[in-house]
Amino acid sequence: MTKLATIEYKKRRQTLLQQLPQGAVVVVQCAPVHIRNGDVEHDYRQDSGFYYLSGMVEPQTTLVLTNSVDGPMSTIFCRSKDKLQEIWHGRRLGLDKAPDELLIEQAYPSESLTEKLIELLDGASQVVYGFGREDTAALLQQSLSALRSLKRQGKAWPTQLVDLDPLVDAMRLLKSAAEIDQMALACNISVAAHKRAMSSCKVGMNEYQLAAEVHHQFAMQGSPRVAYGSIVAGGENACILHYTNNDQVLQDGDLVLIDAGCELDHYASDITRTFPVNGRFSESQKIIYEIVLAAHQAALACIKPGAVFTDMQDAAAKVITQGLIDIGFLTGELDTNITDQTYRKFYMHNIGHWLGMDVHDVGIYKLDGESRPLIPGMVTTVEPGIYIDPDDTDIALQWRGIGIRIEDDILVTESGYLNLTAHLPVAVADIEALMAGEWLPI
Ligand code: GLY
Ligand code: MN
Ligand code: MN
Repeated sequence: MTKLATIEYKKRRQTLLQQLPQGAVVVVQCAPVHIRNGDVEHDYRQDSGFYYLSGMVEPQTTLVLTNSVDGPMSTIFCRSKDKLQEIWHGRRLGLDKAPDELLIEQAYPSESLTEKLIELLDGASQVVYGFGREDTAALLQQSLSALRSLKRQGKAWPTQLVDLDPLVDAMRLLKSAAEIDQMALACNISVAAHKRAMSSCKVGMNEYQLAAEVHHQFAMQGSPRVAYGSIVAGGENACILHYTNNDQVLQDGDLVLIDAGCELDHYASDITRTFPVNGRFSESQKIIYEIVLAAHQAALACIKPGAVFTDMQDAAAKVITQGLIDIGFLTGELDTNITDQTYRKFYMHNIGHWLGMDVHDVGIYKLDGESRPLIPGMVTTVEPGIYIDPDDTDIALQWRGIGIRIEDDILVTESGYLNLTAHLPVAVADIEALMAGEWLPI
């Protein structure tokens, strides 16, 4: 698996500390381990914010950054080497290698965290941590209480608490060149996986078998895991937005919606395509599909530096609303329908979300209450959809249960945008050609 250079993590720590006053101490903890059952753990996946600053994948690890008079310093608390534990549970980086491997000044064993943190916090002006992390808040309470109890010995404790997340989230929202390269690689793998699913889809397969085709391609091209639970939704299951059961048989005449993306070195991709199980769209399916595709194109056309996030949603909603009026699902004037958001019955989510280390990545969507302008280096998904309730008796039977979403991953550039997943067929004719085994230009 390709990985970002270690120096990238060091630069991020420096950038963060440059934004903080002298005397600030940053405390960041790794993701907790979750028990699946008994003594078996869920697969461990590092906390994105922690990984962003440390490059460290192991559990039981804490990073402390200090802005002291002697300059910035990074300290990592990690697991010591332990032969028996490593025989049972896997290799550990260990204290000797951690500083060189992570470009961090000093390493201590995890067990010494409580004691050493008191030393690192002594005399600090402010302590910076993620306010969403209750475990870190509890750890700090303990350390600050300990320092207070030692005041007659000259100890001093920080009195300012600062939330780390807005600082790191703002950094993560703007991707570096190395991050963009990594995300582009993840997108290429996911494109190949969706193509494989289209090529291998057959009537009578189970949704989880089609999911396996996607996951196989992820692994064969170097991605060890998914960026989120894959959605493989045949027929009316596509109308369940976060469907993940993936356990139904794919039926002749139905569509299948696949929303799946691989993760590469903790960077996500997030693609949706909807295609016919038997390789040919029906007339009704094609009509709805073309509306969603036109909405997708209208949203993409808005993307450029300075455009605001809601421009994409407004453009997609307009096309979808007009399409729904044209086929008689909505009545009345376009403007009135837009104002009343009548499309929400059929298109109930928003146009997209930031994409990065998390599939729904960090970063705020509004500045001073207004939709924020796009800046080169941001990555967003664009994913309009139409979902027709299978139980909606106001709609003619031929349409009921059709669920279609089209999702691509878009980098904002100086000149507009780059669609990182553009190589995946999206037009009806191209999807049908790929499914029929015909040659398609890349
Ligand atoms: N795959 C989750 C989403 O598209 O938001
Ligand atoms: Mn998405
Ligand atoms: Mn998705």
